[in-house]
Amino acid sequence: MSVGADYTTLVTGAAGGIGRAICHAMIDASLVANRSPAIVAVGSRADAKLAVLQEELETRGAKVFALAADLTSVKAVRSLMERALECTGGLDCVVSNAGRSSAARLAQMSAEQWDDCFALNARATWLLAKEAYESLARRKGNIVAVASMSGLYPHPGYGAYSPAKAALIMLCRQLAQEWAPSGIRVNAVSPGMIHTPLTDVVYQDADVRAKREAMVPLSRIGRPEDIARAVVFLAGPDASYITGENLRVDGGLCDGLLSMIPGRTASR
Ligand SMILES: NC(=O)c1ccc[n+]([C@@H]2O[C@H](COP(=O)([O-])OP(=O)(O)OC[C@H]3O[C@@H](n4cnc5c(N)ncnc54)[C@H](OP(=O)(O)O)[C@@H]3O)[C@@H](O)[C@H]2O)c1
Repeated sequence: MSVGADYTTLVTGAAGGIGRAICHAMIDASLVANRSPAIVAVGSRADAKLAVLQEELETRGAKVFALAADLTSVKAVRSLMERALECTGGLDCVVSNAGRSSAARLAQMSAEQWDDCFALNARATWLLAKEAYESLARRKGNIVAVASMSGLYPHPGYGAYSPAKAALIMLCRQLAQEWAPSGIRVNAVSPGMIHTPLTDVVYQDADVRAKREAMVPLSRIGRPEDIARAVVFLAGPDASYITGENLRVDGGLCDGLLSMIPGRTASR
């Protein structure tokens, strides 16, 4: 049964810091374009956080379906997408945002930890995309994955996270090539340092926060809304000729390496 919404987006990790901001930004964009938004808000489980988000988004006039699935499970992703397509009638956009970094050094980490990290941060996006393919092709829809600056640079101490996010960025490029003839665009956004529930413990320490801010050319830690706006741009009509791209949203951090070398003429 279709909800009759004008524009339907599925967002994973919807109740997390960046996910919640993406849900709101997608609703903003739909309302500005005079389209009625529907959001499939996906959490790892049907908890209070997801219920609060659903209520919050419904208050804004969106049709909301709150669904739960462990995205590390192939079976769970398949049944999630079956339910999502059944209740919405089809998807215009899939935002694969759920992800997790876990501290582990490669010399010590187990094969299970490696597989779990890849299952969530890389494979889940492929499985979601695969299940949504027909619907996206019919609607000339698109996919945006939330990767990381850790997919562009090694992140010592986070064993499989950088390799998994790097795989995710390449997966988006690969999907973009394979699915362009079907009219489906696929892009990624790579956040830098963003203050969310995932990283809150770090930013509780004022000294660490100040040191991190000093590393960022734009002199601040990113907000979830910074990432959400980039996702909306890539999902929207202004990006209709962009596919296979990875947009860094990091305040200039990743390109700042050479200005940190002592003894050189510093640009800042
Ligand atoms: N924050 C940063 O500085 C930063 C930097 C670079 C990249 N990123 C990426 O940005 C994305 C969002 O992160 P965030 O900072 O917003 O973190 P967050 O607040 O912890 O949100 C992550 C979300 O992922 C979901 N999730 C985790 N494991 C899952 C599983 N097995 N199945 C289904 N869902 C699962 C969680 O759902 P539940 O809450 O329902 O468990 C959570 O809502 C992630 O992909 C992360 O890697 C973040």
